[in-house]
Order: sequence, then C-alpha cells, then structure tokens
Amino acid sequence: MAKIIFYGGKGGVGKTTCSTANSINFAGRGLRTLLVSTDPAHSISDVLGMDIGRSIVRIRENLDGLEIDPEYEAELYIEKIRANMKTILSNVIVEEINSQLDAAMVSPGTHESALFDKISDIILDKFNDYDIIIFDTAPTGHTLRILTLPDLLEGWMGSLAKRRKSIVDMNKMVTRKYDEKDPVLEILERRQQRFGEIKKIFNNTENLRIRFVLNAEKLPIEETKKAIKMLKQFNIPVDTLVINRIMPDDIGAEFWEKKKKQEKEYLEEIEREFKGKEFIKIPMLDTDMNKSTVDILSKYFGD
Ligand SMILES: Nc1ncnc2c1ncn2[C@@H]1O[C@H](COP(=O)(O)OP(=O)(O)OP(=O)(O)O)[C@@H](O)[C@H]1O
Ligand SMILES: [Mg+2]
Repeated sequence: MAKIIFYGGKGGVGKTTCSTANSINFAGRGLRTLLVSTDPAHSISDVLGMDIGRSIVRIRENLDGLEIDPEYEAELYIEKIRANMKTILSNVIVEEINSQLDAAMVSPGTHESALFDKISDIILDKFNDYDIIIFDTAPTGHTLRILTLPDLLEGWMGSLAKRRKSIVDMNKMVTRKYDEKDPVLEILERRQQRFGEIKKIFNNTENLRIRFVLNAEKLPIEETKKAIKMLKQFNIPVDTLVINRIMPDDIGAEFWEKKKKQEKEYLEEIEREFKGKEFIKIPMLDTDMNKSTVDILSKYFGD
C-alpha cells in the first residue's frame, strides 16, 4: 500500500525540483512511484523536459506522473453537480441553481473542493498500484490546507444525509413505497463514505508524510513555522524538512564563475525573448531581506 508524501513550502524554494528528485530516487530504488503536481503552472513538465498531462504518463522505469489542472477540475466538478441535479430536481429549479453554480465556478472554495475531490480520487484509485504517491503543491498553500478537510467534510455529509433520511422516511410512511431509493440520499451517503475512506488513510500516520522545503533564509523559515503550527492544530505532523540550495562547503572562484556564466546566458535569453520590454535589473545581495536591505534595493527603481 502506498505511502503518500506532500511537498509544501513557500513559493520558489524548490518544491517542484525536490519532489521530482525525490520521486526519481524512489523509482531508482525499485519503488513504484507516482508523482502528481497540483500546480497550474505545469512545472514538472518543465523540469523533466517532457509533456505530462491530466492523465498518468510513464516518465521512466517505476516512475509515472500526472499534472492536475485545478481550473479544469473545478469545471468538471461543477458539471458533475449539474448532472446530478438534473436527475433529482425539476427544470425550473435547475435553471435557477445553474446561475448560482456559474458564480460558484470562480469562488476559491470551489477550487479547493474540486482539488480535494481529484486528490481523493487519485489516492483511492491508485493506493494499491503504487508504493509511493508524491504530491508537488502550488505555492499558494491551498493544497496543504485541504489536508485538513476530510474530517469536516465527512461530518458535514453525515449530517446532511441524516437530515435527508428523516425526510425520506417520513415520505415513505405517506406513500408506503418502502423500497424506493432516494437519489439525493444515495449521493450524500456515497460522498460521506468516500470522505470517510480518505480520512482513514490520512489519519494513519504510517500513510501520510508532509515534507517542507525551505531555504536557509528568514522568510522561508517564518513561513515554515506558520505552516507547521497550522497543520499541528489538525494533528497532521511534519517530520521532515528539506533544506534546499545550501551552498557547497568548498565554494570558490570556480563555483561563482560557473554561476555567473550561466546567469549571463540566461540574461541574454531574457533580453532576446522579451525584446522591447523595459528591464529593471536588481542585484543579488549577500544578505537576505529586511528593512535596511530592502532600502538598498529600492534605489534601483529610480525612474
Ligand atoms: N538545489 C538547487 N540548485 C540550484 N537551483 C535550484 C535548486 N533547487 C531549485 N532550483 C531552481 O530554483 C527555481 C525554483 O525551483 P522550483 O520551481 O523547484 O521551486 P518551487 O518551490 O516549486 O516553486 P513554486 O513555488 O513556484 O512552485 C528553479 O529555477 C529551479 O531550477
Ligand atoms: Mg513548483
């Protein structure tokens, strides 16, 4: 049975790089590994230099990949609700609710629920096909927040189902059609059951691991502290931190020359690629950002 690892961390610290590298390592050790990106920027494709789409593709031996497109999943999610509704409700009510669903498309809650549904699908469907499932998350942190949802959603579906059941039972006493199934109740119970299964998987600490990527700098440290505290409130432990981009011990002129040469090539590429744009060039400082260093950088924005 699969272990599930979520990679989280501040924007740009190296989540995609490290989750991909970690997946390659697992696969190299013969573990059947699935790498899943929840980032709309499709960055695994960029790192690996290959197209990875919405369905699972083979990356290399023992390693498969998939990129979730949250926007597309939100559309599917709403479509699914629409389709369910049509089987249950009258046309007039469907018309009315349709416009509310259009509004829901743009609400952040819908994106989170849709993403949660998709992640649940992958975990429940693939739990037995892989040894490890690794999720690379988007910088917004939404993906990690949804880890806290199963409890809430299961309870919510449970209370909706209970309420619906009491209405259905009452109707049955009137109509005396005791065997008739209620489609609403079926949907609610099915969802309650799925959230329950996911909750069971997440609650077993053997299954779920959160790895935080950070750099040895102030802002990523602060963000990591906050995220760990938030997850702790929901009993989700973080036991591994991946500290990325540590400078090598034997750093010397050669290292910097190579970095500088590569930077020069990319600077030329930027100027070529974005020809005609204005460029504001800001130097890297030998310290990280605080009140006085940001003042130094402010001087570069003089028009
Ligand atoms: N150890 C490393 N050495 C050199 N460059 C690195 C290293 N790790 C990451 N990078 C570079 O840093 C940049 C950001 O890395 P990456 O995209 O993995 O971060 P991320 O946390 O996934 O970003 P985002 O929050 O936007 O998803 C990339 O250009 C990547 O090539
Ligand atoms: Mg990324």
